[in-house]
Amino acid sequence: MDSLQLTFLLCLIQVFCFAKCQLQNITSCNSAINFTSGSIFPVNLNLTLASLVVNASISGFATSSFGQDTNTAYGLTQCRAYVSKEQCQTCVEKAVREIRQLCPSQKEGFILLENCSLKYSNQSFFSTADSSSKITNCNVGKASQPALFQSVLGSLMSNLSSSVILSPSRVVNGSSAYMDFKTIYAMVQCTPTLEVSGCSNCLQDIITDMLTVCNISKGSRISSLSCDLRYEMYPFSSTDSPTPAISPSPLSSQYPLPPESDSTTNSTSPSSNGNDFLLQ
Ligand SMILES: *[C@@H]1O[C@H](CO)[C@@H](O)[C@H](O)[C@H]1NC(C)=O
Ligand SMILES: *[C@@H]1O[C@H](CO)[C@@H](O)[C@H](O)[C@H]1NC(C)=O
Ligand SMILES: *[C@@H]1O[C@H](CO)[C@@H](O)[C@H](O)[C@H]1NC(C)=O
Ligand SMILES: *[C@@H]1O[C@H](CO)[C@@H](O)[C@H](O)[C@H]1NC(C)=O
Ligand SMILES: *[C@@H]1O[C@H](CO)[C@@H](O)[C@H](O)[C@H]1NC(C)=O
Ligand SMILES: *[C@@H]1O[C@H](CO)[C@@H](O)[C@H](O)[C@H]1NC(C)=O
Ligand SMILES: *[C@@H]1O[C@H](CO)[C@@H](O)[C@H](O)[C@H]1NC(C)=O
Ligand SMILES: *[C@@H]1O[C@H](CO)[C@@H](O)[C@H](O)[C@H]1NC(C)=O
Ligand SMILES: *[C@@H]1O[C@H](CO)[C@@H](O)[C@H](O)[C@H]1NC(C)=O
Ligand SMILES: *[C@@H]1O[C@H](CO)[C@@H](O)[C@H](O)[C@H]1NC(C)=O
Repeated sequence: MDSLQLTFLLCLIQVFCFAKCQLQNITSCNSAINFTSGSIFPVNLNLTLASLVVNASISGFATSSFGQDTNTAYGLTQCRAYVSKEQCQTCVEKAVREIRQLCPSQKEGFILLENCSLKYSNQSFFSTADSSSKITNCNVGKASQPALFQSVLGSLMSNLSSSVILSPSRVVNGSSAYMDFKTIYAMVQCTPTLEVSGCSNCLQDIITDMLTVCNISKGSRISSLSCDLRYEMYPFSSTDSPTPAISPSPLSSQYPLPPESDSTTNSTSPSSNGNDFLLQ
């Protein structure tokens, strides 16, 4: 798999992230396959990247390819389903800027940012599941009833994984009562170009990380190129998501309640959304 050959340029791990800190990102270029300046590939790549920027803000997901035969440049981008159109567009623009800068002469590269992922290559990869690189952010707050929490969360994620493969848009959200007056809100997402098995395998991989690396965290976000998930103790979907896909889920076992904070800690609240995450 080509991603195995990719060289990490940036991968900062085990960084504590407190208020005002942005979630970290991963960028990777495949330096085994370079293009030469003056060749046709970079021209096609520019067209492909420009088209991703234009199209992503419409639906939160886009693929594109320009060129013929061995000169074809393929690109794919996906925004997290809970970010707004504006945040999606901003993120994809940023992703394109960064990847151009960091992979100036490579035929293949990818970038994972807080709100979107983007990959381009000279070979078609749209239907290949890839969760080999992940940004994993665990809320530093821990649930007060670990066993119950893990069991409800595991069941909720498993249910969402089963229903997301039935959804053509490959995005679902849902919620589940955890304790009296407490609810876990969750979302899972795959790139819509994945087959059922690719989507399932990708989610299984990141859910395993969620249950181990982010064990009993009161919230987590895990993002890979092909799938991502998030859960919180409060509703977090943007009302203006570009994806039509986040539809009221049949999985909601309890209707969204006003956010509650867990009594054992006060490190997280909806107003500090995203600010006190621990990067693993
Ligand atoms: C990605 O992380 C690097 C290293 O922290 C930083 O320099 C860069 O600005 C970040 N890029 C984006 C788009 O956030
Ligand atoms: C590709 O370019 C990078 C620097 O831009 C260089 O380090 C690398 O050796 C090149 N790879 C090949 C196969 O020439
Ligand atoms: C691709 O776009 C970048 C940024 O707009 C530009 O600097 C570069 O010259 C373009 N390359 C080609 C081959 O058109
Ligand atoms: C995406 O962009 C391409 C080229 O810019 C265009 O032909 C295509 O119709 C767009 N797709 C969508 C879904 O907007
Ligand atoms: C991608 O580029 C590399 C290096 O130029 C080449 O060996 C490979 O055959 C290309 N792949 C495709 C599908 O064109
Ligand atoms: C990601 O989107 C959220 C809103 O959904 C925003 O608050 C945050 O600043 C964005 N992250 C980056 C790195 O731009
Ligand atoms: C998962 O689905 C099963 C069967 O529909 C249901 O009994 C269970 O309550 C669901 N779990 C959660 C956490 O929503
Ligand atoms: C799912 O997303 C929709 C649209 O953003 C939102 O109205 C709904 O409350 C969400 N459901 C849950 C359980 O978070
Ligand atoms: C999660 O944390 C609980 C409580 O600290 C511990 O008992 C359990 O073994 C941990 N599970 C995993 C998978 O690390
Ligand atoms: C809540 O936060 C305050 C100040 O950050 C701290 O002193 C206090 O111990 C915290 N309470 C709990 C229950 O964590």
